[in-house]
Amino acid sequence: MNYQWYPGHMTKAKRMMQENIKLIDLIIELVDARIPYSSRNPDIDELGKNKARIVLLNKSDLADPEANREWAAYFADRGVYVLEINAKSGAGVKSVQGLVREACREKLERDQRRGIVNRPVRAMVAGIPNVGKSTFINSFAGKACTKTGNKPGVTKGKQWIRLQKDLELLDTPGILWPRFEDQTVGRNLAFIGSMNDEIIILDELACDLLCFLRGNYPEALEKRYGITPEGSEAEILSAIAVNRRCYQKKEILDLEKAAGILIEDFRGGRLGRITLERP
Ligand code: G4P
Repeated sequence: MNYQWYPGHMTKAKRMMQENIKLIDLIIELVDARIPYSSRNPDIDELGKNKARIVLLNKSDLADPEANREWAAYFADRGVYVLEINAKSGAGVKSVQGLVREACREKLERDQRRGIVNRPVRAMVAGIPNVGKSTFINSFAGKACTKTGNKPGVTKGKQWIRLQKDLELLDTPGILWPRFEDQTVGRNLAFIGSMNDEIIILDELACDLLCFLRGNYPEALEKRYGITPEGSEAEILSAIAVNRRCYQKKEILDLEKAAGILIEDFRGGRLGRITLERP
């Protein structure tokens, strides 16, 4: 998948979102729990005004449990309904239905007052690429779901997944664009692998990651590579190369290989549960 965003991609994504948002009552916004700020779309508040909103801290299994709690509190303090989940294992996913009901209570009561009954809440899952939208839809909708819409003879429309009699989910997620303007955001997206690796200089990225880890999770490096994270980032990367026996030829270290190992270890959670930014 290509995570580079060009103006054309963004215009298309924006247009799709604007179309879909008209059809729904609730936005279920997925963010990556390791970077809840950097993986949020900058325009979601504007796009989603007048809609009920939920934020799901997905991939919480890869993020620091303490930071998960801090971020959950951060969103809750701002009146946003929030949950930590792991869409891959399904942990926390069952609780989403209860949260949907809470988030939509006002709308349901308003409907009732106006005499509108039995109109299901319509929801859409949205987020930037790779946050786990498809995984979540599969896990949330499960096998029991039935698709509605696009029946023969019915005007071609969107596909909805009926979850309960009072809740329908748009079957294709809304793809949001990330923030572009901020260097730190770009770097965080690159760390978690949501940026095209072809445009990334691997050993530079690894050195940036080492700089963060040395300051915030030094024990992760000690534990995984048996090294003391001291000296410059290049020295630490060399120590990792030695530990992982990354050599180009005899005695010449292959730092790029070591960089790749470090980054893949981080992305795969093998350095432990790490969060890159705090509220
Ligand atoms: P998207 O629709 O938002 O683009 O994301 P998608 O569901 O395709 O998920 C992107 C990757 O993130 C997938 O990994 C998926 O398995 C993984 N993922 C989703 N949710 C979670 C989670 O809560 N925890 C963890 N650890 N991983 C999660 P992949 O490597 O692309 O595919 P696969 O090899 O896992 O099948």
